[in-house]
Amino acid sequence: MNIPGGESWPRLAGLNSNYIAKQLHDFKAGDRQNATMVTFANMLDDQQIADVAAYYSQLPATPGQGGDNADEALLARGQQLAERGDWNAYIVSCQSCHGPGGQGVGETFPGIAGQHAGYISAQLNAWKSDTRSNDPQNLMGAIAKRMSEEDIQAVSAWYATQPAAEGEATQ
Ligand code: HEC
Repeated sequence: MNIPGGESWPRLAGLNSNYIAKQLHDFKAGDRQNATMVTFANMLDDQQIADVAAYYSQLPATPGQGGDNADEALLARGQQLAERGDWNAYIVSCQSCHGPGGQGVGETFPGIAGQHAGYISAQLNAWKSDTRSNDPQNLMGAIAKRMSEEDIQAVSAWYATQPAAEGEATQ
């Protein structure tokens, strides 16, 4: 759910089940901080985490929200970052890890196409400010710290307008 100016929650439907499960374990371990989620994650044991992750992974993805009002120049910048990156700023293209169209690759690289803009930008800002540090080899932290606030808005809006992978494709 995308809430402009508020806390946006991710679309979970259609994400890889092992990726969802890893996130719940990371909240429990404190590698990913969110007051709402840690309470919920702490109520779940390992089996319940596996069950809830499997459940969401099977649901059909719904469209991303929050990108529709972005102007063309912002979306064009977002597309550039997503597909080609920005070598002047040492930003690798998002799709080099998140796959063509940002559809996700296996359980390590989550699909970000069709995710809500407010959630994507919140994650990039969380990596920038070290409240999310659960990524392997600091891959996301390194990128997010090189991004300006405008670049974060641009790439978040762009991915929100893109179609998400069908659930089965990311399993
Ligand atoms: C070098 C590889 C790499 C590149 C390039 C990369 N990412 Fe990521 N990204 C990852 C990994 C790995 C994760 C999963 C972290 C974890 O395990 O929690 C991730 C997670 C994310 C998430 C969290 C998704 C969720 O549902 O929790 C967002 C949002 C994201 N990346 C956005 C981007 C954007 C936007 C770009 C381009 C500016 C980008 N990434 C470029 C590796 C990469």
